[in-house]
Amino acid sequence: MNIDIDEEIFKYLSLHLNLKRLEHSYNVANLAVLLAEKNSVNTLKAWLAGLLHDCAKSMTDVELIKFFKNRKKSFKYFKEMSVNSPRLLHSFAGEIIARERFKIKDKSVLKAIKNHTLGRKNMSVLERLIFVSDSISHDRKWKHAEVLRELAKEDLNRAFFEVLVQKIAYVVRNSGWLCPQTIDTWNWYVSNVK
Ligand SMILES: [Fe+2]
Ligand SMILES: [Fe+2]
Repeated sequence: MNIDIDEEIFKYLSLHLNLKRLEHSYNVANLAVLLAEKNSVNTLKAWLAGLLHDCAKSMTDVELIKFFKNRKKSFKYFKEMSVNSPRLLHSFAGEIIARERFKIKDKSVLKAIKNHTLGRKNMSVLERLIFVSDSISHDRKWKHAEVLRELAKEDLNRAFFEVLVQKIAYVVRNSGWLCPQTIDTWNWYVSNVK
């Protein structure tokens, strides 16, 4: 690990995230490294993506929308998210902060940050393991988190599918807005990977 960037990220996250979210970031990074080892993925990339995935999480809805005001939106559904669920934009803002503030150039790391909440079609293994780690890191106390944490260590794809099912079910149960990008992820997964 490059000590300088590790320290720089720690300083940034400590300043911008509350303690709970700071701990979550390190838990996600640790789990992501473990899953990366098991799935022959570069562990440094997993560590970086895990640490930075929520670096924009403390921004308010208004701040997130403002953040994108004069920027090129290199993703679909910006308008829909702004109207229905602006907090989803933190993943996309996080990717930009990783690129601009931390000079992360590795596209696979940037994509893992960008797609950690909604997924996308054709997700790489690194993207999948960040998506999964985010939902089942040690600080997550929801009903299936512990079981899925164990499953992920054995079978990342099955854990990915279960996490995706749970995420969609949660939105539907709460009569929430389901971003079309999540539906794209679902359709891609069930028709190509499962
Ligand atoms: Fe997040
Ligand atoms: Fe997260």
